[in-house]
Amino acid sequence: MTDPVQTQAANAMWGGRFAEGPDAIMTAINASIGFDQRLYAQDIAGSRAHAAMLAAQGILSDSDAKAIGEGLLTVLSEIEGGKFVFSTALEDIHLNVESRLTEIVGEAGKRLHTGRSRNDQVAVDFRLWVRDQCDAAISGLEALMRAFLAQAEAGADWVMPGFTHLQTAQPVTWGHHMMAYVEMFARDRSRFQDARRRMNECPLGAAALAGTSFPIDRHMTAAALGFDRPTANSLDSVSDRDFALEFLSAASICAMHLSRFAEELVIWSSAQFRFVRLSDKWTTGSSIMPQKKNPDAAELLRSKLGRVLGATVALFTVMKGLALTYSKDMQEDKEQTFDAADTLMLGLAAMTGMVSDMAANREGLKAAAASGFSTATDLADWLVRALGLPFRDAHHVTGTLVAMAEKAGIDLPDLTLEQMQSVHAGISAEVFAVLGVENSVRSRTSYGGTSPVRVVEQIARWKAALA
Ligand code: ARG
Repeated sequence: MTDPVQTQAANAMWGGRFAEGPDAIMTAINASIGFDQRLYAQDIAGSRAHAAMLAAQGILSDSDAKAIGEGLLTVLSEIEGGKFVFSTALEDIHLNVESRLTEIVGEAGKRLHTGRSRNDQVAVDFRLWVRDQCDAAISGLEALMRAFLAQAEAGADWVMPGFTHLQTAQPVTWGHHMMAYVEMFARDRSRFQDARRRMNECPLGAAALAGTSFPIDRHMTAAALGFDRPTANSLDSVSDRDFALEFLSAASICAMHLSRFAEELVIWSSAQFRFVRLSDKWTTGSSIMPQKKNPDAAELLRSKLGRVLGATVALFTVMKGLALTYSKDMQEDKEQTFDAADTLMLGLAAMTGMVSDMAANREGLKAAAASGFSTATDLADWLVRALGLPFRDAHHVTGTLVAMAEKAGIDLPDLTLEQMQSVHAGISAEVFAVLGVENSVRSRTSYGGTSPVRVVEQIARWKAALA
């Protein structure tokens, strides 16, 4: 197989001991420039910080450092202007940037790599990129939490059925259900914040693996790149990808949460449920069935968890069993993480849009809340409170009444007092007050309960926290 790359003598960056260039297939499997060009801004920022530090330490002349700093900005504008020609022969973003820099500034460009290696370079570039993604996830989650808060506020006391096993359980409030997601996405946010805090140490200056004999100042580069401190062990610095694994793990849990609400939207928007109407912006029609309005965005969000989780498992599989320190296996960290991050950001934005635009069917929710004997627990609790029955006996009496109503094809409040008294003589007309769904939700005032007073408190707490 012949290819211009193969016939070229050897790599300009490390070709000293090589007589021949790589096979074309080797180039195809080895090169990462096709995807790691996404790290260009981080790569240039890292190199600028490194060059400034080398000059401050007297390792590089001020004039060389100045030429490098300016040359790197030229490279940056070439890339951002779409004028940069990425070369596969130059393997990755690090060699592409350095090679172009040397074309632009000459000799000085060749001095940039003093006291560092691509191993610490890629570690710092990728860490900076993942750190940005944590920030993006945090602000995406805050937007999503605000969308759920707005829904909760609009219907803090609207009644809907609460489910266990997807069977009607007890009436709850719409506001309470929306706020459940605020809690979930708040935990996701704290996971990204936590991961960001832990990853915020700078591996630059670990060099290939052992550190360097040049008198570098790692605290200076760490500070210049917004890190809290340099990493403390050079071997760990170049072999660690925990920051990406933590990001992916947090992303997986977050995507799982997105998929759960996506599934609820699919169910709730169906003709059988009619709990919500999704806006035209987030649905599609059918080419054959004119009545259709399909919840495609929700369905896609439900499934996209698979990509994020897949990326997480893939990177764990890459890292598992790798001896210290850097191994080329680790180049496989990027595509997975890029895809997972893109998927997550798209998912957060789409869910925020769907939640903001959806319209809850207040009447439909209430009607559904009243069906399925949803206040049976309220009846049992009343028997305990009003008649002093042990809860187990109250449960049994209520079960008998439910069976009676079911047989008659009616709901619990439709039973007559006489029918009720035939099961337990002590039941009085007072019982009917607890069989209404509004009373039911209002009564659940325990901390964290579904009562509107508690929901309103939680909404206020979260609004203040997000302000
Ligand atoms: N492209 C490589 C990666 O993404 C950069 C580090 C290469 N280091 C090396 N010694 N070959 O991991």
